[in-house]
Amino acid sequence: MTAGIEGRKQDHLTLCATEDVGFRAQGTLLDGVRFVHDAVPELDAGSIDSTTRLLGKRLRAPIVIAAMTGGTDEAAKVNQALAAVAEARGYGFGLGSQRAMMKRPESAGTFRVREAAPTTLVLGNLGGVQVAASSTSEVRALIEAVGADALCVHLNPAMEIVQPEGDRDFRGVLAAIARLVHELEVPVVAKETGCGLSPRAARKLVSAGVRHVDVSGAGGTSWVGVETKRAADAGDVRKRALGEALWDWGVPTAVTTVACAKAGFATVIATGGIATGLDVARALALGAHAAGFARPALKALHRGGVAAVHEFFDEVEAELRAVMLLVGAGDLASLRHAPRVLSGELRGWLDQLGLDHARG
Ligand SMILES: Cc1cc2nc3c(=O)[nH]c(=O)nc-3n(C[C@H](O)[C@H](O)[C@H](O)COP(=O)(O)O)c2cc1C
Repeated sequence: MTAGIEGRKQDHLTLCATEDVGFRAQGTLLDGVRFVHDAVPELDAGSIDSTTRLLGKRLRAPIVIAAMTGGTDEAAKVNQALAAVAEARGYGFGLGSQRAMMKRPESAGTFRVREAAPTTLVLGNLGGVQVAASSTSEVRALIEAVGADALCVHLNPAMEIVQPEGDRDFRGVLAAIARLVHELEVPVVAKETGCGLSPRAARKLVSAGVRHVDVSGAGGTSWVGVETKRAADAGDVRKRALGEALWDWGVPTAVTTVACAKAGFATVIATGGIATGLDVARALALGAHAAGFARPALKALHRGGVAAVHEFFDEVEAELRAVMLLVGAGDLASLRHAPRVLSGELRGWLDQLGLDHARG
């Protein structure tokens, strides 16, 4: 484990690119969504329309490269590379937590991606605990410095509880988010980081005036897992044991997507273990407007540079379009209403949480 915020950012990139930090026994439950095949789609594969509008900008596919990094030289390279991919492909792009910029204004350049991504939907990022400790004008300055179109406020209590140097006091976050929603000129997106937003959390956010969420559910990258590995490296036996116990903590992505869609947010981004174009389609059929990829994009970049990231997303898009054709959906609005059957554990979660999943 490396000390300080820069060391932590480096640890996160290294661990996420090279180690097994996925959920272990808990999946996204997206595999509980089965589409109903349409043998007579009456569509031309070449005319499938995957464009959408998200947070005021047009995307060529309903995909966001989710928040990862900033604050170090390596982080700057990752941001530049992935932002350029987002620009070339017409995706959204999320910056990592801008806390580093607050602490060290000289690190601002590591978050500046507008040259590489002049037209991209760029999402700024700051933690809930940090927004509670900051004035609106301080937060506004961070957004303006990078030219972000919206601000993600990330919520990550499970990760912080396991992180050896993590925050422990989560009071005042909701009120701070409500203040930002009211006072900022750009949309505010409440974003989990891999443990999902429950129906209860969604209701609290709605009552705080939040209109946009990134569910970042369980089943993909385990941030408890990442911090457990850091605690193990630091010889912190207690944090390690806590992290091992909570490794699979969270609301699976499929469940939190339904919860947030039912809660009535204007924008629902489904992140957390999205691995394929079929996953993107399933998330949209559960009510999401777009899907987010974090670690898969980082791993592709680590494996084979920008070319490998394009290759990965070529496959994702090909699969998404194939699924759209095979369910007879010529555009994303139709995909979101395509017939699907929900099964197994996913139905159990939805039934017990009182989340009606019938098509209304
Ligand atoms: C290396 C790395 C760093 C991350 N840093 C942030 C961050 O600073 N802010 C944030 O909101 N989420 C952060 N995340 C969480 C992701 O945006 C995403 O919510 C989570 O990893 C689940 O998506 P995945 O399964 O596709 O990785 C990070 C993820 C990765 C892999």
